[in-house]
Amino acid sequence: MAMKLDKVVPFGRSLDEYKCMFNLSPVDLDKKIIGVSDGPASFNAEMKKRGKSIVSIDPLYQFDAKEIDTQFYHVVDNIISQVKQTPDDWVWTYHNSPDQLRENRVIVLNKFTRDFEAGKLEKRYIVGELPTLNIESNQYEMALCSHFLFLYSEQFDYDFHLSAILEMLRIAEEVRIFPLLTLNLEKTPYLEPLLHELKSQGYLATVEKVKYEIQKGGNEMLRVTKI
Ligand SMILES: C[S@@+](CC[C@H](N)C(=O)[O-])C[C@H]1O[C@@H](n2cnc3c(N)ncnc32)[C@H](O)[C@@H]1O
Repeated sequence: MAMKLDKVVPFGRSLDEYKCMFNLSPVDLDKKIIGVSDGPASFNAEMKKRGKSIVSIDPLYQFDAKEIDTQFYHVVDNIISQVKQTPDDWVWTYHNSPDQLRENRVIVLNKFTRDFEAGKLEKRYIVGELPTLNIESNQYEMALCSHFLFLYSEQFDYDFHLSAILEMLRIAEEVRIFPLLTLNLEKTPYLEPLLHELKSQGYLATVEKVKYEIQKGGNEMLRVTKI
């Protein structure tokens, strides 16, 4: 077993990690993007510094920065210790070691918390949760979702995943999801039936290799577009 978590944890990734996880090109980064389940990622904060306005939506944003900080420090050492106990399950190319992974997660969290209150006022951080988003249809060119769908396949069933993906396709032309593995490092059992269902509903759904891999074997993303 690679990782046992009681609930979805507030762990965040950087802009560079988002670029790698989702194969984001410079052209992609100029698109109108919504990050679904962005949590305490610094993607939004770092894009803002580059003059781009991203919207992030997550139930976590009902809390203030101090509370999110507390929630992070409540779980981080348990997660890093589980990583250290399962060395063969992880790939240390992007991050060098479990301790460096922890350092990076703290850097990301600090970038997020520094931006959060201002970003809330600017409506760049919105409270909301899948499978129903409080957003009008066709507002975005791209919706990104990392480390929520598929990863927590044990906690959220197939119907939840299908509704969540269709909901993201309601608001965005294209959806990208990473990774396709569960916390147990198994390929999500929902992938094949979802590919079949999405294709039968007229969407183009493809699995693509990406450069980012930390969970061993977790180097693929799902891309779904409206035809
Ligand atoms: C592990 S974090 C991933 C954060 C970010 N996407 C990243 O990869 O850096 C998972 C996030 O999913 C969010 N989440 C939990 N339930 C959700 C739901 N029903 N809809 C959308 N997001 C949810 C959590 O609040 C948490 O911030």
